[in-house]
Amino acid sequence: MNVLIAYTTTEGQTRKIAETAAGQLSHRGHSVTLIDAGEESAELDLKAFDAFILAGSVHQEQHQKAIKNFATAHRDLLNARPSALISVSLSAALEETRPEAQNYVERFASVTGWQPLMILLLGGAVRFAEYDYFQEQVVKFIVMKRGLASEAGADGEFTDWKALEKFVDAFVERGSG
Ligand SMILES: Cc1cc2nc3c(=O)[nH]c(=O)nc-3n(C[C@H](O)[C@H](O)[C@H](O)COP(=O)(O)O)c2cc1C
Repeated sequence: MNVLIAYTTTEGQTRKIAETAAGQLSHRGHSVTLIDAGEESAELDLKAFDAFILAGSVHQEQHQKAIKNFATAHRDLLNARPSALISVSLSAALEETRPEAQNYVERFASVTGWQPLMILLLGGAVRFAEYDYFQEQVVKFIVMKRGLASEAGADGEFTDWKALEKFVDAFVERGSG
């Protein structure tokens, strides 16, 4: 299978997730192209791909503009071929807040007009060293509200890597069937 993975990241966790998915797919013998959705080259022929995985993260309840633009620009192709969305957020990390993570993707689907075949809500990470003062306050609030850490100033990774692996395998199976 020839798969395109397009991602956007603000602090790096979604890049790490996209790279992990790409590594897994090539390990399984698939051909993978990994791009930053905001830096799509005009020479890239999207029609050449059999399947698509888009990955983006949530800030202030929104996915990045670049992934929204990418999904909107290519929605006909994405709707016509096997496609998956990986939505990375802190809300996805806990059962109680998963409905919020679900709301983010529903809004994303209605804004872009893209209906992915499969969707994965995946927990992200907290990295205080990368935030300015405002971001730090926002994340502290989110972390405390969700009870994700005992210490509101501590870094943490909440990505379920096993869930990602299962999702990628299930996508390939559905996509090839
Ligand atoms: C300023 C800021 C705002 C955020 N807002 C939300 C939010 O509204 N909901 C949520 O679930 N997670 C929120 N997060 C958590 C991010 O989705 C999480 O840190 C994710 O790992 C970021 O992925 P990235 O490193 O690929 O950008 C926010 C993070 C930051 C820094």
